[in-house]
Amino acid sequence: MTDKACSVTPDVICLASWNADLVSRVARPMVRGETLMAHSFDIQPGGKGSNAAVAAARQGAQVGLIARIGDDDFGRMALSLWQREGIDTRHAEVAANERSGVAQILVYDDGDNSIAVAVGAGAGLGKVNVDKACEMIRAAKVVMSSNEVPQAVTLAAFKMARAAGVTTVLNPAPAMDLPDELVALCDVLTPNESEAKLLFGKSVRALVVTQGAAGCAIYQNGTLVQTLTGWAMQVVDTIGAGDTFTGALAAALARGELLLDAAISANAAAALSVTGRGAIAAMPTLAQSQALMQNLTKSK
Ligand code: RIB
Repeated sequence: MTDKACSVTPDVICLASWNADLVSRVARPMVRGETLMAHSFDIQPGGKGSNAAVAAARQGAQVGLIARIGDDDFGRMALSLWQREGIDTRHAEVAANERSGVAQILVYDDGDNSIAVAVGAGAGLGKVNVDKACEMIRAAKVVMSSNEVPQAVTLAAFKMARAAGVTTVLNPAPAMDLPDELVALCDVLTPNESEAKLLFGKSVRALVVTQGAAGCAIYQNGTLVQTLTGWAMQVVDTIGAGDTFTGALAAALARGELLLDAAISANAAAALSVTGRGAIAAMPTLAQSQALMQNLTKSK
């Protein structure tokens, strides 16, 4: 943790999964039993929570995370990333004799991907981690999570946040059923289109459905209030685009923006994120997102 990160109160807290992304680039999706030669291989920072935390930090938020990583090279990779990004790691637990999470990712020539996650030490993140971070949670403006951390942990943190008037944001990825109790504690959910189907019939306050290159759709109390068109970008890969959206949205909400304005910022940040390799390489700063949005205004 940098001195700067230690000395300020985080305004965005992330219940963070961490994975080292093992990324092979192959021409196309594989069929069962097939061996395919990859064009390249990289080890890159990942994990939906960590990605969202980095996105929020680059958008100017003071970010604190609650995480559990292994006492291994991949865990050290996480700590050095978070330090570089100015993220407060006082509640990142290093679990002795455990492996960090890893994600095996295939990126296809069209930029799309498939991912298999082994959460490793992240599976042991518990309510005890949330309780230790209670002061940080209660003092924050936004608490965000994803389905890559145990649901009981998100539930405990969101209960604490709701009681303290802190806004809660959940990226319900990867797709899984959400208990009604948890949905009721979410101020904003950011599913993609397939994840959104699992929320059908549930009572959701606000939903921003990400639609990839097509943009996003904003619903409040079950009513579509706005759609935002996507940006035409040169796609290198889409790893972490949804995480960037969630992190940028959380940062904008923490700045006091209304949901629509926050979604506009997040839509631009997510668009820029697909222009580089891996989850975080092309995640933009706030100035870079604003420049993209201003160029649109000028060209109108
Ligand atoms: O959303 C992308 C992320 O999903 C990757 O970074 C990978 O680690 C998996 O968690």
